Amino acid sequence: MPDPSPSPTRLSGTVVHGAGRGRGLGFPTANISPDPGADVPPPAIYSGWLARPATGAVHRATISIGTNPTFEDGPRIHTEVYCHDTSDDLYGEHVALWFVARIRDTIRFASVDELLLAVKADVRRSEALLDSAHGCRVRAAVLS
Ligand SMILES: Cc1cc2nc3c(=O)[nH]c(=O)nc-3n(C[C@H](O)[C@H](O)[C@H](O)COP(=O)(O)O)c2cc1C
Repeated sequence: MPDPSPSPTRLSGTVVHGAGRGRGLGFPTANISPDPGADVPPPAIYSGWLARPATGAVHRATISIGTNPTFEDGPRIHTEVYCHDTSDDLYGEHVALWFVARIRDTIRFASVDELLLAVKADVRRSEALLDSAHGCRVRAAVLS
């Protein structure tokens, strides 16, 4: 999804309970159950905005769509969001993810430490992408 598109990719869903591992790892994630019939982007790590209609807030986010191969979670595709700027509990909220850019493929890491290093780098990259002209255009679309 590298090219700035006039209508950004958007995915809506409800925040549900995940394996509960993220908080212990230092990056709590909101696990999204996509709305029925939703078009889920292909597995990868993405930068994007998380919009909360319930509060009107729009949060900076890094998104993982994949099977969590490092933890051998099985074949189910998880949609997980790390919000950079809030630790609010989002359980039960209906939210929308607005994708800004694809960052990398999902990797099966040999250790949790390697995953943590990659997540830190992803968040740094995501911050820059959110602040880019394209990131700001997508945010304007969220607010319109
Ligand atoms: C920015 C980011 C990048 C991630 N990258 C990977 C990855 O490359 N490989 C992987 O197995 N899991 C990856 N994950 C998913 C984590 O394994 C998952 O969020 C963690 O195990 C917590 O899962 P839980 O919320 O269901 O407890 C990533 C998660 C985030 C937020």
